[in-house]
Amino acid sequence: MSPTSDQAPEAFTAEWLALREEADGQARATAPLDPLRTHLAQRGAGPGRRPIRITDLGCGTGSQGRWLAPRLAGPQTWMLHDLDPHLLNLAGARMPRVCADGSTVQTRMCLRDLNQVTAADLAHTDLVTGSALLDLLTRDQVLSIARAADEAGCAVLFTLTVTGRVDLYPAHPADASITDAFNDHQRRAGRLGPDATAFTTRTFRSLGRRVLTYPSPWRLLPEHRDLTLAWLRGRLRAAGEQHAQIPADHLRHRMDQCERHELVALVHHTDLLALPNGYPGHP
Ligand SMILES: C[S@@+](CC[C@H](N)C(=O)[O-])C[C@H]1O[C@@H](n2cnc3c(N)ncnc32)[C@H](O)[C@@H]1O
Repeated sequence: MSPTSDQAPEAFTAEWLALREEADGQARATAPLDPLRTHLAQRGAGPGRRPIRITDLGCGTGSQGRWLAPRLAGPQTWMLHDLDPHLLNLAGARMPRVCADGSTVQTRMCLRDLNQVTAADLAHTDLVTGSALLDLLTRDQVLSIARAADEAGCAVLFTLTVTGRVDLYPAHPADASITDAFNDHQRRAGRLGPDATAFTTRTFRSLGRRVLTYPSPWRLLPEHRDLTLAWLRGRLRAAGEQHAQIPADHLRHRMDQCERHELVALVHHTDLLALPNGYPGHP
């Protein structure tokens, strides 16, 4: 398992994704769902209409689908994309078969690099989504996805993008430099890391889209002990790789606090909804 896998596609494991799934589900904002449902209905998809067609990029084991499908009413068809065949198979097997109102959810899997996704691929898609993905991408990848989704007229929902801000209680004097180093680590190899939401917002606005953003922080409380420990280890390892000055006993100190139920962490994320203009009700 690798918590730094939050930033390293090659290191993602089903175990790490499972460990974070509950916190992810509690963190994702529900506020984008109403404008999204309105948009889908205006587009002719949803209850009493044709199925909602959703493409989930970088689906991993399918956490986003398990969260979102039951929250949308009406029949749905999901296309799950990932370049990891093991994760993709798990995602396909674990997708819900019915949604909020008992309508059918159909799922297909696509083993493919998201770099290859074109507007033609999205021609029959109402919503492109991705969870814990955007901060892994480069500017070119975001531009390519945004242009393809815009040309195809799809709504876009990216959830759980890191902002770079972390609040630890109790605070420690080393926190700020660890956060700076960790954020630099996330920007390695041209990845957007904590700059992802700002860049994606600008990109979609330049395409004439309406962009809405919502906070979606992880709230790591004592009951999230295993996730907090894994996240802490990964954060300090990544910061160390960036040559942060970390006190020798810092990990032990934080792990002891966690074991004593004395540590709370807020790991800030943002969810982003980009809607095409041209539908009633959209300015
Ligand atoms: C942090 S995981 C998130 C997984 C899932 N969306 C979730 O929320 O649990 C990122 C996922 O993106 C996939 N991924 C990363 N880069 C990709 C690319 N270029 N093409 C397709 N999938 C990619 C990884 O294999 C991994 O499953």
